[in-house]
Amino acid sequence: VNHLLGIKYLNESDIQLIFETADHFKEVINRSIKKVPSLRDITIANIFFENSTRTKLSFELAEKRLSADVLNFSASQSSVKKGETLIDTVNNILSMKVDMVVMRHSNPGAGIFLAKHVKASIINAGDGAHEHPTQALLDSYSIREKLGDVAGKNVVIVGDILHSRVALSNIFALKLQGANVKVCGPKTLMPKYIESLGVGVEMNLRKALEWCDVANMLRIQNERLDISYFPTTREYTQQFGVNKKLLDSLDKEIVIMHPGPINRGVEITSDVADSKQSIILNQVENGVAVRMAVIYLLASKIK
Ligand code: CP
Repeated sequence: VNHLLGIKYLNESDIQLIFETADHFKEVINRSIKKVPSLRDITIANIFFENSTRTKLSFELAEKRLSADVLNFSASQSSVKKGETLIDTVNNILSMKVDMVVMRHSNPGAGIFLAKHVKASIINAGDGAHEHPTQALLDSYSIREKLGDVAGKNVVIVGDILHSRVALSNIFALKLQGANVKVCGPKTLMPKYIESLGVGVEMNLRKALEWCDVANMLRIQNERLDISYFPTTREYTQQFGVNKKLLDSLDKEIVIMHPGPINRGVEITSDVADSKQSIILNQVENGVAVRMAVIYLLASKIK
């Protein structure tokens, strides 16, 4: 398959191949070799219909480090604003001999739709509340780097599970690799089908933290939130926010993750986000090597 549309479409050996390829690229970057010639004849368009800092920059850097030609497209500054459709937009870009499209879109399934209608390799950089596969890959890669393995580890994902593509992709990726997964958050932000994904549900944050080796803290997705989804931010922080006092009261040191952007003081305090328990910036660093691996492996099927 010439696409990465979701973790749902991968198997465990796909993930291991991506990680081994990412190990190679990380080692190359660590030797201060910031550019390899692998994709000199490949052109990639990054098409973002939703805001992004990390994913957009990380993909662009990964593509440039592989020597691909890169086009950056931001929907808010484009003819999408004049009514041009997604397929017309992408087909116009592809007619300029683009080989691969990295797309973020607010509609769940937008990447799947695009893959059916255009002739290019598609990477999903986040589609609404559906999947964010490269985020889940870099998250698992970072757990593997920190703890040696993902298999057998207890991972809790805390927060707005209902609206989170990071949560869904992480659940698929972690389960494929043999991790034990629980989710923790307000009942109103928990999907009804959650237990059918084979994860445990723990409503009590302390109990969840006592159980886990890794806590992946998510923000409330206010942009996807309906007013009926209580609690208030203050109530949320009291029940589901991590702070140093809570972590220090546990009898072990757990690993703290966050995909970003962080709402400091809401789901995580600064003294936790910036502590030595936190691997948040390692996640961002690893994102470049993991995305290089994904692009490289997909491009090898184009060439
Ligand atoms: N983690 C993540 O997707 O961040 P951005 O929205 O900034 O890309």
